[in-house]
Amino acid sequence: MKYRLSSPSLGKKEIGYVNSALKSNWLSFGGKNTKIFEKKFAKFLGIKHVLAVQSGTAALHLALKAVNIKPGDNVIIPNYSCVASISSTTQSSAKPVVVEVENDTLGLDFSLIKNAIKKYNPKALQLVHVYGFPARDSLKIKKYCNKKKITLIEDCSEALGAEINNRKVGTLGDISIFSVRSDKMIGVGEGGVICTNKSGLFNKIQLLAARNAPHRSDNDHFWKKYYHLGEGYNYLMPHLLGSVARAQIERFKKELLYKKIKVGNFYRKLRSKNFRMTQKVIKNTKPVYWLNSIYFYNLGKNKVRKIGHNLMKHGIEVRSGFWPLSDLKKFSSKYVGNRKISRDIFEKTLVLPSNINLNEKDIKLIVKKVEYLIKKIN
Ligand SMILES: Cc1ncc(COP(=O)(O)O)c(C=O)c1O
Repeated sequence: MKYRLSSPSLGKKEIGYVNSALKSNWLSFGGKNTKIFEKKFAKFLGIKHVLAVQSGTAALHLALKAVNIKPGDNVIIPNYSCVASISSTTQSSAKPVVVEVENDTLGLDFSLIKNAIKKYNPKALQLVHVYGFPARDSLKIKKYCNKKKITLIEDCSEALGAEINNRKVGTLGDISIFSVRSDKMIGVGEGGVICTNKSGLFNKIQLLAARNAPHRSDNDHFWKKYYHLGEGYNYLMPHLLGSVARAQIERFKKELLYKKIKVGNFYRKLRSKNFRMTQKVIKNTKPVYWLNSIYFYNLGKNKVRKIGHNLMKHGIEVRSGFWPLSDLKKFSSKYVGNRKISRDIFEKTLVLPSNINLNEKDIKLIVKKVEYLIKKIN
C-alpha cells in the first residue's frame, strides 16, 4: 500500500531506549523506561496515577474488575465502537447495555443514556471518544453518572490529546484507559494504559494487573510475594515496549500530535457534493483526528464497498466503519435507541489514509480518486 491508514513512526529515540533496556538486562514489567513513560504520560494528561499494561482491552478488563463489577451487573457501552467495549464487559461476566450514538460525533447520545439508566440501573458506563473526537455530551454524562453513582470508565483509546472545554479526555472518568497499539496516537506494538486520580482504586488496579499479589521487594517481607489475594492477571507492560512508549510520549506533543492534526485539517479543507467528513468538529472541543472518515450521501453499501475495494487495489488503504456491536451475533446484549445510526454509518462510510506522513498533495490525490470512482460507479 502506498497510502497507509496509519503507520508507526519510529526513530532514534525508540532505538536508543530499547537498546538501553537491553543493556540493563531487565525485560519484565516495572523497567526504568516504563516507569519514566508512566510519569510523563501522567504529566501530559494531568492525572495522578498511570499504569502501562499490555493492551487497551486488558486495561478495560482491569477497569471493570477494579470497580467490582459483578456477574450479572449491567454496563452501558456505545453501539459504534471497537469490540473491546463489549468483550471486556462479557469477559467480566457483566451484561452489556448497548446504547445508540449520535450521527455527527459518533459518541454516546445523552438523551438515550438517561432512559438506559432508568431501565437497567447499570453499575458502570464506558464513554468512548471515537476516532479522536470527544463525545459531545461528555461533561453532562460525567455529571449524570456522578449523580446516579455509576462508575464512569472513559475509553480514550483513539483520542490521546483530544480536549473538551479545555479539559483533556482521560481526566473525566473515575478510570480512563488508552490503547497504545501501533496504529494509535502513540504506538508500541500492542499495549495499553490505565489511569485514575483515586489512590485506593489505583492500588487495586496495580494488584490485579500483577497477579493480585503484593509486590514486596523489601527483605523483611520477601515471603509475602507469593501470597495471592485472589484471582488476578498478568497484564503489565514489558520493558522493551515501555522503552518505545517512553520515546513516543516524549515525541508526542510537538511532533506526533502536531502532524496528526495537520493531516486532519488537510481533509477538512476539501469540499465535495458527494460526501462529507463523517464527524463534525463541535464547539468547545479539540479533536485529534486519529482517523478521517467520509460519509457518502447517495451511495448504498454495495457501491461504497466497491469503491473501497478499488481504492485498495490502487494502493490506497481504507477501512470500513465498525460493525454495530448490537449486530454481533455471538454477543447477547440489551439495546437502547434506534440501531439505524450505527448501521447507516457502518454501511455508508469509509475511513481514508490518516498516517502522519501524508501531505496535502497526497490527500488531494486520494480524494480525487474517490470522486473519480463515484462518477464511474454511478
Ligand atoms: C475504542 C477502543 N477501545 C479499546 C480498544 C482496544 O485496544 P487494544 O487493541 O489495545 O486492545 C480499541 C482499539 O484497538 C479501541 O479503538
